[in-house]
Amino acid sequence: DASDIEKGTYPHYMLKEIDEQPLVTRRIIEKYRNENGGLTVDENIVNAVNAADRIYIIAAGTSYHAGLIGKQFIENWAKIPVEVHIASEFSYNMPLLSEKPLFIFISQSGETADSRSVLVQIKELGHKALTITNVPGSTLSREADYTLLLHAGPEIAVASTKAYTAQLAVLSILAAVAAYGKGLSLEFDLTKELGIVANAMEVLCDQKEEMEAIAKEYFSTTRNAFFIGRSVDYYVGLEGALKLKEISYIQAEGFAGGELKHGTIALIENGTPIIALATQEHVNLSIRGNVKEVVSRGANPCIISMKGLEEEDDRFVLPSIHEQLSPLAAVVPLQLISYYAALHRDCDVDKPRNLAKSVTVE
Ligand code: AGP
Repeated sequence: DASDIEKGTYPHYMLKEIDEQPLVTRRIIEKYRNENGGLTVDENIVNAVNAADRIYIIAAGTSYHAGLIGKQFIENWAKIPVEVHIASEFSYNMPLLSEKPLFIFISQSGETADSRSVLVQIKELGHKALTITNVPGSTLSREADYTLLLHAGPEIAVASTKAYTAQLAVLSILAAVAAYGKGLSLEFDLTKELGIVANAMEVLCDQKEEMEAIAKEYFSTTRNAFFIGRSVDYYVGLEGALKLKEISYIQAEGFAGGELKHGTIALIENGTPIIALATQEHVNLSIRGNVKEVVSRGANPCIISMKGLEEEDDRFVLPSIHEQLSPLAAVVPLQLISYYAALHRDCDVDKPRNLAKSVTVE
């Protein structure tokens, strides 16, 4: 649909694509729903997942970050061990493969050369592959045994936003349906909880002024920034840092809350922004402890927590959603903050320097 690739009244594709996330999440629920209202995935794919004794997720950049969270869904719900690998490193550090591996390639474009070279390599070894992509008929889709589509609509901005949350939604559905296929059940209704996620995304997209204020306050002049979190918040922090650096050129790093003290804390100076995610009850005390450690060295903390876990000095509180799905909502303020940071630093938001939408060279 040509109207899909128009910016309309939006100043940038990135902002439009951030705003599309509630719609895309709802579309994914519909696309993966059967006539009884339950979630469904092509039977051959579910069988391939459940026949595997280990899953190897291969991806790059933002798609790799989605893979890290997808691993949690698949291991926690379908109880299949998962390894996540950066595509470009796979051939040098090729793991010892299990007896019945399944490879899952996550790629918005389906054209990433680093991922394709792993696909060629593992096909030569006779292994099966599933590609999760936004582009039907893309190279990675054509060359894999199976494809799951993201249904996110064209993503034009170089910085991936709606494809990431679509990847998480599709991975969650795949993991849940694989679990049901093995007779395992989730402790919650995924369809309902994804609907709650979509509503939360909408609430977040309506808070742009607040995100702009945070971007101005923390990122107007800074040279660097750190994102910390524990558990899945750590992975969301990696994605938040990548978003910020690729479009605003601020040097940003994501760290596991507990890892900072093993070296990187030396970089904290007066006013260094620390974005801390606190959406996980089981690590709430520890991440808040990490914030205290950096604040005592002069850091300027921006705590993003979730309703129910919030404390007085938190800078932003996310609406309450299911803890295991929190990355789908927690990333939205990070995307918006990066957008406004780039905008106020006069950067070319949709086409950052040195970057292409899909990286078709190794
Ligand atoms: C995301 O903002 C980046 N531009 C980049 O990391 C991207 O996710 C990566 O190149 C992978 O692309 P793909 O999903 O199309 O394979």
